[in-house]
Order: sequence, then C-alpha cells, then structure tokens
Amino acid sequence: MASRPPFAGARALVTGASSGIGADVARQLADVGCALVVTARRADRLEALAAELRGRGATAVHVVVEDLASREGAARVADAARAALGGVDVLVNNAGFAVPGLTERAPLDRTLAMIDVNVVAPVILTRALLPAMLEARRGFVLNVASVAGIGPAPYQAGYSGTKAFLLHWSESFREEVRDRGVAVTALCPGITDTEFFEAAGYKGTNRFLRWKMPSERVARAGLAALARNRCRVVTGWQNKLLVFTTRLSPRWLIQGVAARLMRRRSPGR
Ligand SMILES: NC(=O)c1ccc[n+]([C@@H]2O[C@H](COP(=O)([O-])OP(=O)(O)OC[C@H]3O[C@@H](n4cnc5c(N)ncnc54)[C@H](OP(=O)(O)O)[C@@H]3O)[C@@H](O)[C@H]2O)c1
Repeated sequence: MASRPPFAGARALVTGASSGIGADVARQLADVGCALVVTARRADRLEALAAELRGRGATAVHVVVEDLASREGAARVADAARAALGGVDVLVNNAGFAVPGLTERAPLDRTLAMIDVNVVAPVILTRALLPAMLEARRGFVLNVASVAGIGPAPYQAGYSGTKAFLLHWSESFREEVRDRGVAVTALCPGITDTEFFEAAGYKGTNRFLRWKMPSERVARAGLAALARNRCRVVTGWQNKLLVFTTRLSPRWLIQGVAARLMRRRSPGR
C-alpha cells in the first residue's frame, strides 16, 4: 500500500491466519500498526506468526485457537477478539477450505464442516461484530471468496456454492451499510500459492499451479480494495480475463470448460 490505509492503527481480527492469504493479510495489517487477533486451529503456527507480527509493528497480537467448523467456536472467537482488543474495527473472514471430487462421493461430514467454516462462521462473526462498527460509524469487513464463486466449478461443487454465497452475501449487505461508515469488500482470488490444494487433497495440480499468484500479492490486493471500499476485487489479469470471458460466454460453454479443467484434478473420480 503506497499511502496509509484508513484502517492503519485499527483493531483487527483475521481468521485462517495460520497460513497462506490470512497470514499475509495479518502481516500487512501489522505493517500499518494494527492491533491483531489471529485465529485458526494450529497453535504453533499462530504463535510463530504472532512473534513475527510484533516485530513488524503490530501494537498488540493475541492468538485465539478455535475450530470454526463449530458454531460455538465461531461465537467464542468473536467474544475473545472483543475482549482482547476492546472492539474490532477490521474483520477479515478468510478461513476456508475445499472438498474436491464427485458430489455423490464427497464425505458428508467434511462437506458440512466446509459449509460451516466457509459460510456459517463468517455470518456468525459478522453478525457479532458489525453492530458495534455501525454504532461507531467506522468498520471494515473483508470477505475472502474466490473466482470459483463467480462461475460454476464442477468437481468442487460444494466449495463453489460456499464461495458464491460469500460473494453474494458480501455484495448485498455491503449496500445496507455503505452509507453508515462500514466498508465491505469481497476478495476473489484465483489459484494462489498456499497450502490450500494440499489441505484439500487435489491431485495433479502441478501444471495447473503454474498460474498461481503469491499469497502476499493477493492479500495486498484485498486490503487495497478494502481501503477504497471496493465491492469486489478479482486478483491478477488472468483471473480478470477469465471472469470477463465467463460473463460474455453462454453458461453451458463455461460449465463444459470448467469440467474439463477440473476433472483430472478430482480425487474422487
Ligand atoms: N489458494 C487458492 O488458490 C485460493 C483461491 C481462491 C480462494 N481461496 C480462499 O482463500 C482463503 C484462504 O485460503 P489459503 O489459500 O490461504 O489456504 P490455506 O493456506 O490452506 O489457509 C487456510 C486457512 O484456513 C484455516 N482453517 C481451515 N479450516 C479451519 C477450521 N476448521 N477452523 C479454523 N480455521 C480453519 C487454516 O488454519 P488451520 O488449518 O490452522 O485451522 C488456514 O489458516 C480460503 O477461504 C480459500 O477458500 C484460496
């Protein structure tokens, strides 16, 4: 970020901060002097990140270890962040994962956990923290969706559905709050160089991953868009071109191409 963003020095909660995009968002918020709560399940990763964030300029860093697949866990994260920071000005709904493969074979418990982490937790956290932002007439919400939420994504259908929810939900409630001091942005990355594919168990992604973007750039694009209160940001020119083409092409063609691209990477064929 060239100039100081409006959330410099703010109190921020970042979910899914133990790796990838979330860790880089936390780093960039630390760089502009935010006080931070970082949350995920892997305590060791969060503690190592916390030490780094303190060195980078965060005014305070608190680690909250929770599983966002649990609704009680999500509610505890909101309470812990409020208690640790005295309020939250910046909420980054970033934690998420995918369940790739054929819909009829996808493990049901994992699919439901994905819906809880990708959809239910952001709704719980936002519902808990948005009222105080509105009262203060100052707040920022960054929702990490995906290009997979813009068009169909066969062989990762449930994941695509969660990201479509996040995107439409984000763009909808944004209009409710935009004149009341709260900025809401949906970040739509394409393939990004993180632990995402490993965590999900995709196969044969090597060639596919040559398009990957560094997570540091994705985080920077998201925070820059949030600073300008942009509705949505798609990262990288290839992804922008993909989304533009998707908009112009017939739905059947997009579905067919997406299916061909994803079929070989599906673990459950
Ligand atoms: N990488 C991509 O190509 C890509 C593309 C588009 C969108 N995205 C989105 O970007 C976001 C960040 O993913 P990433 O690419 O940075 O992948 P990542 O490196 O795998 O990070 C995912 C983060 O989510 C956390 N998480 C997963 N399950 C959780 C749970 N049950 N409870 C709490 N935290 C949980 C993980 O922490 P723990 O494992 O420690 O809990 C980790 O910090 C996700 O929403 C993803 O859908 C990624």
